[in-house]
Amino acid sequence: MLKIGVLVSGGGTNLQAIIDNIESGYISKAEIVTVISSNPNAYALERAKKHNINAVCIRKHDYADFDGYMKAMENHIDSCGVELIVLAGFMTVLSKEFTEKYKNKIINIHPALIPSFCGDGFYGLKVHEAVLKKGVKITGATAHFVNDETDGGPIILQKAVAVEDNDTPEILQKRVMEQAEWKILPEAIKLISEGKITVSGNKVRRI
Ligand code: GRF
Repeated sequence: MLKIGVLVSGGGTNLQAIIDNIESGYISKAEIVTVISSNPNAYALERAKKHNINAVCIRKHDYADFDGYMKAMENHIDSCGVELIVLAGFMTVLSKEFTEKYKNKIINIHPALIPSFCGDGFYGLKVHEAVLKKGVKITGATAHFVNDETDGGPIILQKAVAVEDNDTPEILQKRVMEQAEWKILPEAIKLISEGKITVSGNKVRRI
């Protein structure tokens, strides 16, 4: 069984999608061994507890410096035997050392079709505000490996979602979550847990 650690900061709807797909048996070769929240009030922690999943809060400002925080994250992740780190609405920057230590073992869900509307400053509702401002007709979500460039790692899966004329950022965010994020993040975990993808350079291939 692939041991996954899910890193969260907010509502945890992507975490819930992973939990639901494991409990339904769709994901049969992975288990969540820990949830780490950067925010003590994240509802994602409630979701983990409801499903009897080990959940901890590790906060940057509880440590003297950023390195101490990263070390605490690594210690917890390694002590749980995590083999795949999943960023699910995780809002804290990770160090270059961290992303290199876990190269091709960290995945993230971004609420747009990378390389559009991504990079520094593009997170949460801001992504959808930019999408609506630009007037694009198609947006979506991207599941990708994480490297030291924000939203820059090899792309695993993408799913397109229509932008409707009367969308607000909130309506669009909900549609992107429902139709794309909550589908391709679990799917990416399933593929990885079943050994069905390989990464060479910045290319992900299905095998
Ligand atoms: C949302 O903006 C989502 O698009 C992005 O992270 C944020 C929180 O998601 N992936 P969640 O409900 O905490 O999973």
